[in-house]
Amino acid sequence: MQIKRVGIIGSGIMGSGIAECAARNGYEVVVRSRSQSTADALLAGIEKSLGKQVEKGKLGSDEVDTILSRMTATSDFSILADCDLVIESVLEDLQTKKHLFLELDRICPDSTILATNTSTLPVIELAMETGRPEKVCGIHFFNPATVMKLVEIVRPITASNDTIESAKEFARSCAKTPVEVRDQAGFVVNALLFPYLNNAIRLLEQGVASLEDIDTSMKEGCGFPMGPFALLDLIGLDTSLSILDALYEEYRDPNYAAVPLLRRMVSAELLGKKSGRGFYDYHGGK
Ligand code: 3HC
Repeated sequence: MQIKRVGIIGSGIMGSGIAECAARNGYEVVVRSRSQSTADALLAGIEKSLGKQVEKGKLGSDEVDTILSRMTATSDFSILADCDLVIESVLEDLQTKKHLFLELDRICPDSTILATNTSTLPVIELAMETGRPEKVCGIHFFNPATVMKLVEIVRPITASNDTIESAKEFARSCAKTPVEVRDQAGFVVNALLFPYLNNAIRLLEQGVASLEDIDTSMKEGCGFPMGPFALLDLIGLDTSLSILDALYEEYRDPNYAAVPLLRRMVSAELLGKKSGRGFYDYHGGK
């Protein structure tokens, strides 16, 4: 099917990155956020991000206006009604997502593909909230979505081949590399990445090395672009905890049982870069 108009629900780190990618690649993009102020903040953030690309000489300043003119952000849910594809990217809470899929199914035409950017929750549970389970799949971008090339296309057992192919084509048209994965918690990347991140926090708790030295070790010893603590701060500690909890719920594997320090930091609202402090302090602008 031909996708022209893309709806995004959620104006967090991922929703905003996906919206920027889609608009840059020619799609008409509508974003539904919780309030008009968060919707306005999303557009301002994207304008700033595009401005940085202009400064780097990677984007013409005339292109910024064209990209922004393709985007609308509002708190009005009905704006999603005539989208060809909607990608939900709200917090990792199954009940919240189920409610949104029920609403989307009610307002969108039968032809609309409904996708979720969840990293761990069962896509089948969202598909079964709708009267079109064959048109529901996962389209999982990575953080930062504007930069990371991979998109996991998640196939719940109900999805049609057409839906999966359209989702892959959408990812390619956003200059991404799609891989198809089964609807199983963590898919490929998070199932492998999160035991590593969790074990890095365990090493810190055990006092094996400082967090700076653990990060340096993985950067200089393994060639990773950033160490585990910088990455946890980038992903967000609340998101990381939800991912680990969902992985543990699915597999009951001790490697996925969140280390207590992570849970305590989330309770203390030390959420990473987005809250100004996580394992590192960003108030000085890291
Ligand atoms: N649009 C297009 N390109 C952009 C951009 C934008 N909005 N913002 C930045 N870029 C480009 C830059 O121009 C730059 O390209 P260049 O090197 O050719 O000039 C490149 O992206 C890198 O940007 P920066 O120079 O600003 O930043 P760094 O070089 O410091 O890299 C990083 C930052 C990309 C975050 C890098 O450290 C990295 O790859 N880290 C690992 C991130 C990772 O592992 N992510 C996956 C997390 S897991 C996940 O997301 C799953 C989820 O479910 C939790």
